[in-house]
Amino acid sequence: MKEFTTDIFSLYDKTWGLLCAGTMEQHNAMTISWGGMGTLWGKPVVTVYVRPNRHTYGFMENSEYFTVGFLKEEYRGAHGIMGSKSGRDMDKDREAGLTPCPAGETVMYAEAEATLLCRKIYCQDLDVSAFPEAVREKYYGSEPAHRMYIGEVVDIIRK
Ligand SMILES: Cc1cc2nc3c(=O)[nH]c(=O)nc-3n(C[C@H](O)[C@H](O)[C@H](O)COP(=O)(O)O)c2cc1C
Repeated sequence: MKEFTTDIFSLYDKTWGLLCAGTMEQHNAMTISWGGMGTLWGKPVVTVYVRPNRHTYGFMENSEYFTVGFLKEEYRGAHGIMGSKSGRDMDKDREAGLTPCPAGETVMYAEAEATLLCRKIYCQDLDVSAFPEAVREKYYGSEPAHRMYIGEVVDIIRK
């Protein structure tokens, strides 16, 4: 695996990621800002959290692989579309001016300066009853709880 040196704590929260799953023919991507990177079962892993009402959720469920890409600064505006519109209603790639390209069996974006190619190794719905009350009120009043996906990082693709 190639080297990846960055501030991983600000990467999701401040830079935001682009989570994509599916094939070149049929895929969907959305902006994410919650996630993690670490180690599980001796493997380098990425964790992402996806609410089941996202169009991307179905692709995450049906795909063995997914990518998390971090767009170059000049493409930050694309998150305006990727993080607020649904692929159910439009061709988000085209609207956002992003270029999908193959990454192993799945898809990444040419505008990303770094992309983590991940193989899904675990998923689980978050248990709302175990959340701190303030979190439940703030984030889960009307929206369904996220499903957590953990992916083994099998490649890091840098531009
Ligand atoms: C900055 C930002 C961060 C987001 N982070 C997440 C996230 O971590 N998990 C999630 O389920 N939705 C997150 N969203 C919301 C989705 O990106 C948004 O609902 C998107 O329109 C879903 O697209 P889709 O229906 O095509 O999958 C975030 C949105 C923004 C703007």
